[in-house]
Amino acid sequence: MRISIDMKAFKKISVAGLLALAMLVAGCGKSDDDGPILIKFPHVTAPGTPKGQAAQRFKDLVDERLDGRVVVEVYPSGQLMSDDDSLDALAFGEVQMIAISLSKLDRLTHKFQVFDLPFLFPDLSTVERFQASQEGMSLLDSMSDKGLRGLTFWHNGMKQFGGPIPMRSPDAAVGLKFRVMESDVLQAQVLQIGGNPQKIAFGEVYQALQTGAVDAQENTWSNIYSSKFFEVQDYLMETNHGYIGYLVAVNPEFWDGLPEEIRAELDTIVNEVGVWANEQASVINEDGKQKIIASGQSEVLALSAEELAVWQDAMTPVWDQFEGNIGAEFIEAALAARQ
Ligand code: LMR
Repeated sequence: MRISIDMKAFKKISVAGLLALAMLVAGCGKSDDDGPILIKFPHVTAPGTPKGQAAQRFKDLVDERLDGRVVVEVYPSGQLMSDDDSLDALAFGEVQMIAISLSKLDRLTHKFQVFDLPFLFPDLSTVERFQASQEGMSLLDSMSDKGLRGLTFWHNGMKQFGGPIPMRSPDAAVGLKFRVMESDVLQAQVLQIGGNPQKIAFGEVYQALQTGAVDAQENTWSNIYSSKFFEVQDYLMETNHGYIGYLVAVNPEFWDGLPEEIRAELDTIVNEVGVWANEQASVINEDGKQKIIASGQSEVLALSAEELAVWQDAMTPVWDQFEGNIGAEFIEAALAARQ
């Protein structure tokens, strides 16, 4: 069975109506008697990014181990839909798997805002320890009533700022228009340094920078390189001030309806790919950074410990603003994951 959804109309339907409809149609990707199980897996980044490579590896391992019983179709670079639309499409059974930036779950739950708090996670190892903690693991299943279950987390990497001028200090950000993901924490973080935040979908960022709709942005080296943001940003500041990672998520009705041995194999593959992807992520990001430097199109500025401390002092007041939303125990667990 296939259905097609008008996303604009979809957003106007009540939540209760949505959930009822989602329950009805969630089985759309399931096998019928005459065909394999189809997993449509859209995402927004380029094939060479940490997420692009992980999604492709998931497909390759499914091909190898499930012998045609499951077919994975990966749609990279936002060619099928935006992240925002993919949340609706997953709830409706239009697609069966997504790997969405944790920042974009803001509209479903505030708990994931912990991942956006600036300077909370100093590196990817700390993020991994937090994700493996009781609090981190509890996040996976925190949105099942909204048509989405997390299977695991995959890394991208740490974020860097880019802009039209050197930004060694947050003073330089005053008055600049910053593109941010669809996250209230990221919006508040930019307001905190006197910038003007604009929530813009990933697929529209290059053009927004090129036309001057926004002046500045934050992203990982791999995204800045593969989506060519460095071509339209004169300066990139190595701030490592925040994290981008993904929730690999499925529709609970679809997932629970799969034959048990297939679901178990898919679970194994998703987790195996997660370990592999997390090992690759830093290498892919470093490679993107070196290619940007080699291009000479954008100047990469390393910041001193003193300069970074000023950024940190300027941005961390947003922690207090969001602690009530997130729950203090999540912030404490993240702090406990530091070494
Ligand atoms: C962004 O919108 O900047 C990122 O979420 C894109 C991604 O998926 O890495």
